[in-house]
Amino acid sequence: MYKSKLPEIDTKEMAEIDCLQQDELIRIEGRTPLHGSVRVQGSKNAALPILAACLMIPGRCIIRNCPVITDVGYMLRLLECAGCMVEQVGNVVTIDATNVREYRLPGKYVRKMRSSVILMGAMLSRMKEVGIEYPGGCVIGERPIDLHLKGLSLLGADISVEGNYIYAGAKTLKGARIVFPFSSVGATQNIILASVLAEGETYIENAAREPEIDALCNFLKTAGADIEGIGTSMLRIRGVEILHPVSFEVIPDRIVAGTYLFATMVSRGSICLKETPIEHLGSVIEVIKAMGNDIRVREEQREIQLYCGGRIQNLPLVRTDIYPGFPTDLQSLLLVAAVTAKGELVLEESIFNGRFKIVEELRRMGAYIRENGNQVVISGGTELSGRNVIARELRGGAALVAAGIAAEGMTTVVGTCYINRGYEDIVRDFKMLGAHIDRMTENEREK
Ligand code: UD1
Repeated sequence: MYKSKLPEIDTKEMAEIDCLQQDELIRIEGRTPLHGSVRVQGSKNAALPILAACLMIPGRCIIRNCPVITDVGYMLRLLECAGCMVEQVGNVVTIDATNVREYRLPGKYVRKMRSSVILMGAMLSRMKEVGIEYPGGCVIGERPIDLHLKGLSLLGADISVEGNYIYAGAKTLKGARIVFPFSSVGATQNIILASVLAEGETYIENAAREPEIDALCNFLKTAGADIEGIGTSMLRIRGVEILHPVSFEVIPDRIVAGTYLFATMVSRGSICLKETPIEHLGSVIEVIKAMGNDIRVREEQREIQLYCGGRIQNLPLVRTDIYPGFPTDLQSLLLVAAVTAKGELVLEESIFNGRFKIVEELRRMGAYIRENGNQVVISGGTELSGRNVIARELRGGAALVAAGIAAEGMTTVVGTCYINRGYEDIVRDFKMLGAHIDRMTENEREK
């Protein structure tokens, strides 16, 4: 068995220092309403597990509408390290996993991205063993992987943990009945990946129902997997002997769509979102409408139009929840919108503790927010002022950019590498919508 020689390190802290040391920043001259139309990019959270699944298919898969973001870059490097041949031309990624040979995943990439953990299921399936450091990712509270490990061991994997290093091996994976005590997107994906090529039947009870799970199942089904119950919390998977290469298109990103809708609301502008996953945005559209905005859906065109001319009003309470509830990934964007809206909002985070990372930065911009455990109370009606702020995680970073667009004066956001993990080019898109926004280095700012 491979034993790690690496000393124990605080991986979360390392990823944060790494990111803040890069000297790119985003500068915004605020108070410009966003107007115009923009296309929604492919989904990060759908693309990553689909890319991991390609490793299980001996042959060449083509993934279209794959977002060009750093997390996809890390996933592609990890696949290369395992022996895949990878090519990325714009939004089209080709992965040839004919010759997969390395079961140890390099910590350099694993530490940067929590989603590397879903390679465990894929590697166990294909290679029958995997060695991985404890994965990193956005610093949004505790993010254990006990459900992943327990599920994999129920499928027959022998797992040992030494310091930050996890080794899992299995002579054969065998179908099992896995009952999650609560819904986990990543753990559900890992078990799906480990079970589609396992012997016999697997039942996953209390499976996550996020659209990104459906996307993974649809990809695997196209490749020959036998999965029933897609879209429900009860999945039944019958193991097949082999998966065959396919060409597949990634769904559009509901969180990026929501980001642009909330940024438009914060700036009191109007937007037409194109190639929008309307069917995945129910709770988001509901909240935006209830806050007094004019939001129209054109299903056939896959477009959402949003007009935010007048005053917007806070709702009494919004609670983040598992799908189809209001997504935790849009909590910080709603928080910024609430700061500018009339009245008070109680915003409750029910998925991740420690996810109110931007409260301190927003207070520095003039917001009035009280924190109380997993709730924040936002007293709205505030005119934000431009400040130098720090992004500490992906969606919070995008929310700070939105706050900068609404604020009076100049805002600079550092920690942009968090934002680049999930947005192809947030500066390009907001610029296209009329924002006065640029990327620059610390040196250029000082000139
Ligand atoms: C995924 C998404 C992330 C989103 C989240 C919730 C990706 C790449 N990321 O993250 O953007 O915010 O779903 O919709 O798709 N938990 C445990 N033990 C485990 C696994 C999870 O306690 O083994 C807990 C987590 O700490 C959290 C909750 O379960 O409190 C839900 O997490 P999970 O659904 O697993 O989120 P991720 O898959 O990490």
